[in-house]
Amino acid sequence: MTIRIGVLTGGGDCPGLNSAIKWVTKTALDPLLAAKRHEVFEVIGIRDGWRGLVEVDPADPSSVARWTEQLTELKVRAWDRTGGTALGTSRVNPFNPKDDRSRRLLENIEALGIDALAAIGGEDTLTVAQRLHDLGVKVVGIPKTIDRDLTGTDYTLGYDSALNVITEEVDRLRTTAGSHSRIFVVETMGRHAGWLALEGGQAAGAYVILIPEWDFQMERVCELLMTRKNSGIRYSIVVVSEGAKIKGEDLVYLSEKEDGFGHKVLGGIARYVSKEIERRTGLESRYVVLSHLQRGGKPTACDRLMGRRFGIAAVDLILRGRFGRMVSYIKGELTSVPISQAIAKLQTVDVARYYDTERYNGPRSSLLADNKIT
Ligand code: F6P
Repeated sequence: MTIRIGVLTGGGDCPGLNSAIKWVTKTALDPLLAAKRHEVFEVIGIRDGWRGLVEVDPADPSSVARWTEQLTELKVRAWDRTGGTALGTSRVNPFNPKDDRSRRLLENIEALGIDALAAIGGEDTLTVAQRLHDLGVKVVGIPKTIDRDLTGTDYTLGYDSALNVITEEVDRLRTTAGSHSRIFVVETMGRHAGWLALEGGQAAGAYVILIPEWDFQMERVCELLMTRKNSGIRYSIVVVSEGAKIKGEDLVYLSEKEDGFGHKVLGGIARYVSKEIERRTGLESRYVVLSHLQRGGKPTACDRLMGRRFGIAAVDLILRGRFGRMVSYIKGELTSVPISQAIAKLQTVDVARYYDTERYNGPRSSLLADNKIT
């Protein structure tokens, strides 16, 4: 019996996706493994995420060729070294109440003969996967987002590569900041989760880190910067998450337009903070929005490896018939959790544990709080 696996990537692209696609494909098609199984697999790549499955006309061969692609071991051989997604992605939501195309989605999955789907994505993509699972489609998930905000997994593809971009870019800014004795405010992505800003900021040695989970006060930011300036240090780096906000004020959006999942594009807080710093302290300040640079470039070793592990584990789930589950990585072990659990709520920064609300930075004790020292 031939089992046809459809694989797709949805939502924001990032490094590590191609590694996951490669390893779903290689594991499913592996001749040594195939000899031990009763089933034979075929892997079909779907272009542009859920959009491909909605737009494709299964009766028209040119449309099928436009929206799908038969994946072979040879084709995906070197994919793990490249960033982005070779299958393309989109933020199309087939269950969007304003334009519900879920019926067509279901019909197309059936008409294309897809027996099982591997959906690689974050909260939005996996929410669609869960809806499909509820409707009887055999689907498994692979966690991906530079925001690292899915519940039920300690790792999501793309996160490490994004952290490395933040660290490298701040290193670059550091020399010019020092030469000019300036403050640099660096805006990171992350939406409503502060992980990228918090861990990227710490790795990069930022003096002040502002995260969505803790509304900050400009007076305190300026106080911290002035104390540092007065101690003789020429410059400071402030890292601010795009989803951070000043206490009592609103989030700053780049655009009011909503995507199919109801998200507006965040952005602009670094500019605001930078201007306020100059106005309040007289210190010269510039800002940089790292934006999509954080999702660009080659995957780090960690993302290649995790893509590999997640891709293999996703095929294991399919082989075991464990549908409606997402592969995950918890406390150093590969495992899986129900997709419904992963999307139930965002995994945001636990401030009491990971954030110093006085310093606006990472904590200076890690073992004391939990009586971890015996
Ligand atoms: O969810 C990943 C992410 O990069 C967020 O951090 C960011 O807010 C958003 O996607 C940006 O989306 P887009 O690429 O559609 O502008």
